[in-house]
Amino acid sequence: METNTNIGVLLTIFLLLIFLGYRKIVKDHNFFSQRGIAFIKPKIFFGNMFESFLEFENQEVLLKRFYNDFKREKLFGIFMFLRPIIIAKDVELIKKITVTHSTQFHNRDRSSLDDLLSKSIYNLEGSQWLHTKIAIAPFFEESAIKIFYSNISLCADDFMRMLDKKRSSSNDNELVIDTKTVIEEFLSNVIALIILGKGIVYGERNAVYEIAKRIEEDLKSLRGGIKIFFMTHFPVISEFFDMKIFSKEIYDFFREHVTEEIKNRKRRKVDKDKNRQDFVQFLMNTNNHLDDVTINAQIFSFFVSGFSPISKLFQLCCYELAKNERIQNELYEEIRNENDFLRNYKNLKILDKIILETLRKWPPINNLNRICNQNCTIELKNGEKYRFFKNDFIKIPLNLIQNDHELFYDPNYFNPHRFDSDDGEKNLNIIFPFGIGERACLCSEIAIFQVKLVLFEITRKYLILQSQKTATPVGCSFLSDSNAICVRIKLRTK
Ligand code: HEM
Repeated sequence: METNTNIGVLLTIFLLLIFLGYRKIVKDHNFFSQRGIAFIKPKIFFGNMFESFLEFENQEVLLKRFYNDFKREKLFGIFMFLRPIIIAKDVELIKKITVTHSTQFHNRDRSSLDDLLSKSIYNLEGSQWLHTKIAIAPFFEESAIKIFYSNISLCADDFMRMLDKKRSSSNDNELVIDTKTVIEEFLSNVIALIILGKGIVYGERNAVYEIAKRIEEDLKSLRGGIKIFFMTHFPVISEFFDMKIFSKEIYDFFREHVTEEIKNRKRRKVDKDKNRQDFVQFLMNTNNHLDDVTINAQIFSFFVSGFSPISKLFQLCCYELAKNERIQNELYEEIRNENDFLRNYKNLKILDKIILETLRKWPPINNLNRICNQNCTIELKNGEKYRFFKNDFIKIPLNLIQNDHELFYDPNYFNPHRFDSDDGEKNLNIIFPFGIGERACLCSEIAIFQVKLVLFEITRKYLILQSQKTATPVGCSFLSDSNAICVRIKLRTK
């Protein structure tokens, strides 16, 4: 008898929870209609992500379809599962959100509770963000990073020696390269040198390379995807289970190479040594005291940020150059007699535009996001007004905007010269590959410098050509671990 009563109580609680859950979901379904924002009717629980969840349609392709469905709107709404998200399309509105009203849209979506991620500057909020930015920004100022340029050049020399060695061992004047592997080996040496102050270990896979790959795998694996899903949509559950995105060896790496290194340097009083100017030392010397966890988190964020976007940019530059012989010849003419890259790299105009056009067509980071932290109204030049409320999630789809036919003439055509015509300035004003406003990328200068340097070195010596293995990318998300761009490089005959 008592068992029956217990089952009855449990069943009632269960049905009540389902009812309350259903009420909440259906209530949120009115989110956009109450605000007068155009939106796509959601499905229960899946929102507008049903096709993407079942993998009928890649999330980026799905978003593109929605974007095109709302041609005339300046913004529209979608449901990512239960969560309503405002997609901002209009450039004037985007500038108002990120620049004019930056104090009301200061933060990003903090999807993760993991220490390494949540304490990194990318995810910090409000005064914590400001404190950390003031502490680390001087390290990446142009005048400061110039000190590193000659060190990065040494990494590039080693990179070229490695390519030459591979080619000569194939007994041919040409070679098929996987652009992802070669650039990531170069980047891991740069990171080892600039961030950790460790010497170059070319050829043998260095620890930085292995750990950067591990971070990428953890973020892209099914397991990582499930954890991120819970951290984003059900933070209470992920907190309860103390979910961590990354595997133990990644935390161990940071403990061993950063925390221990800081302890050693403090013990040996290396912190007084201003000559040892790597990022770890810089953070130790800074007057704005940062605790060890925060230091680790910043170094971690530079591992993530310094790797994948530069790698994608380089791969896609190679892809476009391999397909565009004419542009490649123009580049060769510009650089063939240039012997002082460090002094003149800013004057290499066609190289500049090739990188800009690649960043336009293939922004390595597809979307920006901002969270509204204070109710506000934005007014556009034509008098239209948009009201935003605390906790609104705004997404800015860079790749769709930068490939929009309404904004760019023939956007699928790779044309670096779109930045030198009368329209050049206008085009420049509507691309944001490094973000926009006070939360824009901290390291765009150093990122561009590295890609320019490697392209300069390769193009001076080799022709970049398509190979049978060169697949056509369908978007930057294509460049996952399993998809890398392969090209053929062929020794130039002068
Ligand atoms: C081609 C290479 C890169 C691209 C395309 C890129 C792009 C971006 C974008 C789109 C953002 C978000 C900006 C926003 O929300 O408005 C960002 C933020 C950031 N990036 Fe980069 N990035 C690149 C390389 C790097 C490198 C090499 C580093 C450092 C090693 C770096 C460090 C950061 C940091 C720290 C932030 C957060 C800034 C903040 O919130 O204050 N990025 N980046």
